[in-house]
Amino acid sequence: MKVNGERLLTDLFQLRQFTDTPGEGVTRFSYGQQDQKARAYLLKEAGAIGCAAETDALKNIRIGMPQNTSGRQKVVIGSHIDTVRNGGWLDGIYGVTAGLEVMRVLKDCRLEYDLELVIFAEEEGSNFGSTMTGSKFISGDYKEEDLDHLKNDEGLSLRQILENPSEEELRQVKWDFSELKAMLELHIEQGPVLEREGLSLGIVETIFGMRVIEVEVTGVGNHAGATPMEDRKDALCAAAECILAAERIVKPNGHTVVTVGRIKAEPDCSNVIPEKTVFTLEARDGQTEKIDYFINQITAAIKRICRERQVECQIREVSSSEPLKLDPELSKTMERLAAQKKIPYRVMDSGAVHDACMIAKHAKTGMIFVPSIGGRSHVPEEDTRPEDLVQGAQFLLEVAAALTGAE
Ligand code: GLV
Ligand code: MN
Ligand code: MN
Repeated sequence: MKVNGERLLTDLFQLRQFTDTPGEGVTRFSYGQQDQKARAYLLKEAGAIGCAAETDALKNIRIGMPQNTSGRQKVVIGSHIDTVRNGGWLDGIYGVTAGLEVMRVLKDCRLEYDLELVIFAEEEGSNFGSTMTGSKFISGDYKEEDLDHLKNDEGLSLRQILENPSEEELRQVKWDFSELKAMLELHIEQGPVLEREGLSLGIVETIFGMRVIEVEVTGVGNHAGATPMEDRKDALCAAAECILAAERIVKPNGHTVVTVGRIKAEPDCSNVIPEKTVFTLEARDGQTEKIDYFINQITAAIKRICRERQVECQIREVSSSEPLKLDPELSKTMERLAAQKKIPYRVMDSGAVHDACMIAKHAKTGMIFVPSIGGRSHVPEEDTRPEDLVQGAQFLLEVAAALTGAE
């Protein structure tokens, strides 16, 4: 059994065109127009091999093999098709197109278990600032009331974006995990480890957890020329000190990572002292205690700095997810297969979060990485060698065939 590498790459080349920022990376937010186009492309391709698709109230899509029968457990292959702003062409969608290619190859096989491809909605959190939104509703981590808490930059809630789904429609989003035999996610590594070590495959052991907070600092706006330095309560200067304090607190630890990726100053004029600054800060680690420890240290530092600078600050938690160990038995099966095929691999952690985290709490879950060139991701330069992309898809096929008993 072999995947068709050219067909996989053609899908990826076609889908990379669905971007709001041509020439500047891929910007494809869930629920937007480009997302619609990517969904239509994938549904058409799946339809061409006789697969049936269902979309739930969150816009997660489940695509089933024509051979599926109700009553059998299923193996799910899944990832996402949304991106960060000016992101790369492979994050998420590689796992989806590889899953589609696996289905094409297995469409005429006899299967002992059902096989489904799942496209998770809003994984990146680009709309609402919270990652893995679609899979958090699938797992039950998010409840109906979260539809109102999650708001985009225009102040629209997720409930409004989804056009007010009914209670029954929302109930159907949550999976019955007893139906699941296993879930697999294939993804680009997004970091430098595999390339640096000259390896072609990563088998993920632990996915890091994360906590995201939003900090709003309020000072006093005033004239940039007429206000002496000692009379200022500059919200942006206070935020800058807070951000550098966070870096100083976390850096010596060598493992935990902290990032301020978003900052907005108001009124955003060169000749006005900023009255308000809002920034996000996220911390990630493989151990919850460390994440909590550093978020507590950073929060205390932010409060102290704001007190000393006589500015107000408000801190709220935006989202969080626990670190997760993936299924050791499934990992061993994948290690055996990689060794049999003589593919150089290693077992490793994932610093990025993935929808697999939400499923791994309830069902056997495995995750496969392929190398990222230069370790770059979430940027337009994100790339992977075509031979690695094809080899990763071939490996996914072999694991999926083993798990579904395909003949
Ligand atoms: C998702 O891509 C994340 O790890 O931020
Ligand atoms: Mn991803
Ligand atoms: Mn991503």
